[in-house]
Amino acid sequence: MRQPLVAGNWKLNGSLSSISELISGIREQLLTVNNAELAVCPPYIYLSHVQELLEGVNISLGAQDCSDQESGAYTGEVAAAMIKEFGCKYIIIGHSERRHIYGDTNDTVATKFAHVVKNGLTPILCVGETLEEREEGHTEVVISKQINAVLDLFGVEAFRKAVIAYEPVWAIGTGQVATPAQAQEVHEEIRLTLDAQNKDIAANIRILYGGSMKPENAKELLQQPDIDGGLIGGAALKADDFIGIALAAN
Ligand code: 13P
Repeated sequence: MRQPLVAGNWKLNGSLSSISELISGIREQLLTVNNAELAVCPPYIYLSHVQELLEGVNISLGAQDCSDQESGAYTGEVAAAMIKEFGCKYIIIGHSERRHIYGDTNDTVATKFAHVVKNGLTPILCVGETLEEREEGHTEVVISKQINAVLDLFGVEAFRKAVIAYEPVWAIGTGQVATPAQAQEVHEEIRLTLDAQNKDIAANIRILYGGSMKPENAKELLQQPDIDGGLIGGAALKADDFIGIALAAN
């Protein structure tokens, strides 16, 4: 049985005070959520603040990225081992904004994935095609390249603890959500790719959908057999919306 995961990716948003307010708004309604696991992924600098706010609260903490290096002369980088010290369970890897704005390649993403796993944390590996790639009929090829970059280097066992997030680039922050059928089709393909190598891992891995997910469209998406939760951007910045999505998984 896969427990749904609803994770908020706060991206480059928040301040000490707005984050305190957001967490207290989420906490007020937390008891209504009886099925999904909740997680929040603040900017690195706020991890310690959020860790304190979440003490004794049943919400997991995650980071939005990590370095592909362990330590050394890499100005501005943050290592998976450092993130672990702040009580994180998850690290998002390969988000399309990292791939497209900051140049993370499939190989960089695979290296980061390995660091996360090596440190005992759970990677949330993001995959997804651009609008152009979809229109040219390349969705399947793009996604399988992104998954295979990790599979080929580290094998299917590396996915035993992992989470995958399918985030079509054209749906991120655009209000243009994938239809439940479009999302389900890709989720099923991802699961089948893993199933070809290990049935148990494929059956247990959680595959999240991300891209303009809102309380209004969450239920239909989460009802799909291979959609096991959501990676939420904009709607995760409002307590009511974030909880609203989690309730759709009840
Ligand atoms: P939006 O929910 O704002 O579309 O962002 C999705 C996303 O990128 C989550 O990682």
